[in-house]
Amino acid sequence: MELTGEVTGEGIDSWNTVIFLYNSALKEVGTKLEILNDEFQHVHQYNPIEYIKSRIKSPESIVKKLKRYGYESTIDNMVNYVNDIAGIRIVCSFTSDIYRMAAMIGKQNDLTVVSIKDYIKHPKQSGYKSYHMLVTVPIFLSDRVVDTKVEIQIRTIAMDFWASLEHKIYYKFEGNAPDYISQDLQECAEIVSMLDAKMLSLNEAILEAKAAQMQESEWKQLEKGFNNRV
Ligand code: GTP
Ligand code: MG
Repeated sequence: MELTGEVTGEGIDSWNTVIFLYNSALKEVGTKLEILNDEFQHVHQYNPIEYIKSRIKSPESIVKKLKRYGYESTIDNMVNYVNDIAGIRIVCSFTSDIYRMAAMIGKQNDLTVVSIKDYIKHPKQSGYKSYHMLVTVPIFLSDRVVDTKVEIQIRTIAMDFWASLEHKIYYKFEGNAPDYISQDLQECAEIVSMLDAKMLSLNEAILEAKAAQMQESEWKQLEKGFNNRV
């Protein structure tokens, strides 16, 4: 590990303290997301979240990123410039759930949304789609409060499937994949988007059909009650 240095401004003075803070931030945000999901289930009888994954970036990856950005490997630089040391990935069922989750996260009073990147409305050149939010969460220590950054990525199962495989394929080529492979991956991303759109409209059709069925049975109940009275 080549990371050394002190963060005087925030009073973060060692690697262990930094990792402790990011781990705490992951716990705080993870719990918030679970509560939002549980509440949604309670109110709407529906889970917008399929699953959540979280991770702390490895020291090697942090050093690599700092190098790529042209910064020295100090704790100061890592805290200031590496935004995804703590990362949470929320995998939703439908595209509509992504925006629902993002809105719910945005409304949490103790989270500060630092920036948003909507790679669903504006996919990356690679075909990558996801909704990214950079937030800070206050971590209450015994003698101070430290706002700690967490990168939240929100995507559908289909987007996650694509991103995981694309990452694996690209890793093999170390970013220099031949053109035809990049093109095929972009095509796959389009297929994934079509699948998401189809699943979403299927779900909407099912919900509508169910609502109509319920209305009909309510009418029948009313009619029965009415007939019994006359
Ligand atoms: P880095 O790309 O992490 O240096 O930072 P950035 O500021 O460009 O952030 P960006 O929002 O573009 O990407 C952050 C994260 O999103 C990455 O670490 C990946 O997890 C994911 N990501 C972004 N682009 C791609 C992509 O083309 N393919 C895959 N599989 N994942 C991507
Ligand atoms: Mg990037």
